[in-house]
Amino acid sequence: MSAPSIETIVNLSKRRGFVFPASEIYGGLSSAWDFGPLGVELANNIKNAWWRWLVHERDDIEGIDTCIIQNRLVWKYSGHEATFNDPLVDCRTCKGRFRYDKLHEYHCPRESSTCVGKGKECDLTEPRQFNLMFKTTVGAVSAEDDPSALVYLRPETAQGIFINFKNVLDTTRRKLPFGIAQIGKSFRNEVTPGNFIFRTREFEQMEMEYFCHPKDAAKIHQEWIDAFLQWFKDLGISEKNLKLHEQTPDELAHYAVRCVDILYRFFPERPDEKAQFDELMGIANRTDYDLRQHSKKAVDEHGNRINPDSTEDLSYFDPVTQERFYPYCIEPAAGVNRTVLAVMMDAYSEKMSERGEKRVILKLKASLAPIKVAVLPLAKNKPEIVSMAKAIKKDLMKDFRTVYDDTAGIGKLYARQDEIGTPFCVTVDHQSLEDNAVTVRDRDTWEQDRINVSQLGEYLRKRLKEK
Ligand code: GAP
Repeated sequence: MSAPSIETIVNLSKRRGFVFPASEIYGGLSSAWDFGPLGVELANNIKNAWWRWLVHERDDIEGIDTCIIQNRLVWKYSGHEATFNDPLVDCRTCKGRFRYDKLHEYHCPRESSTCVGKGKECDLTEPRQFNLMFKTTVGAVSAEDDPSALVYLRPETAQGIFINFKNVLDTTRRKLPFGIAQIGKSFRNEVTPGNFIFRTREFEQMEMEYFCHPKDAAKIHQEWIDAFLQWFKDLGISEKNLKLHEQTPDELAHYAVRCVDILYRFFPERPDEKAQFDELMGIANRTDYDLRQHSKKAVDEHGNRINPDSTEDLSYFDPVTQERFYPYCIEPAAGVNRTVLAVMMDAYSEKMSERGEKRVILKLKASLAPIKVAVLPLAKNKPEIVSMAKAIKKDLMKDFRTVYDDTAGIGKLYARQDEIGTPFCVTVDHQSLEDNAVTVRDRDTWEQDRINVSQLGEYLRKRLKEK
């Protein structure tokens, strides 16, 4: 089967409760989406997989959870206030607004009856810089009355890590190299959001800042690129839909000397193979830029202090070499929402049933599946079957996310679970009342095993691990 388009995933998401348009009953809000009951489980499973892998299963990374709103000076010294901009142009003819850096040529990209467009007589303004940070105020004042009340919603979670570098270092007694990980919401007033949850103004990031000696940074950078490529494969994403992109100098953010993006094939329907891929995550070498920027003692190339406002110096003292320096930082930064989308697109498949009906199967890795087991009674009008099924559900739910469903015939119930990626369905039938055994159906093969209820938990645990 050919790869599904994002549109196919939008429909599935809405129909089954993965993702809903935000503020829908008021006509929606441009490019804003809410996770529904299944989407929140999938996103949580992805975040847990990331956290477990980095923070729990290694011994060189700590976790942290910092504020979305920080002192405005954080964004002054991080460079975001001055440089986190998109260059915009307006078309005076069609009133469209476009990112100047995304235009292939300096003319309006719209071809419509209202715009002369495509180069000849369209009327574009000069590019001007638009800062992407959302502004708000702290306290019962407006920014006009009291400019010091102005604050920003963070556009990356990373800065919360840099400004806590010393706190983490002092409290955990870490030695280089070590990392600090954080998962949380970020906000960017994107000029051209779109493509479902691919680019939104509010989104969630999973970021890790890995601090090291400058001489080790290039090697460690490459190790994290390789490790994350493998991590996405381990999430079940197929290799052919993943690709690396070495950012060109004009693509690099103001803080990076090298950045490699991991791309996913988000747009399989595009004829140009290169255009099918877009960014899933970026892995940057941020050098010592951020720690120096936030340090009271750091000086620029002219010997002038970079930051007269900071009260701390974020340098590191190596007790073995007796050397004091600002560590370099390697930053693997992934989007939760884009990972959810990539995982769903990659898991999507269709299969014909024996009756010739098209069935959707979401072949999610079991650890990511929102629901692990569905318990289904074959006859809902038979109280003994229903109560046995409910008792099995109650028992299984202590170990796995389990649901009970009797709201349709068994064929439909199976189809519903396949479509949301539930790895196993457990069916209680008339025979179960006699032999205390149930049928376990595999989502991917539709094969069925008969298992005694006393062994069911053990059986599912083993099979879920393999899937
Ligand atoms: N701290 C580095 C940083 O923020 P980034 O490449 O701008 O780097 C990292 O963002 C990841 O966050 C991206 O690869 C993407 O997955 C996600 N992301 C960024 N902007 C996004 C947006 N507007 N909507 C959804 N995800 C976004």
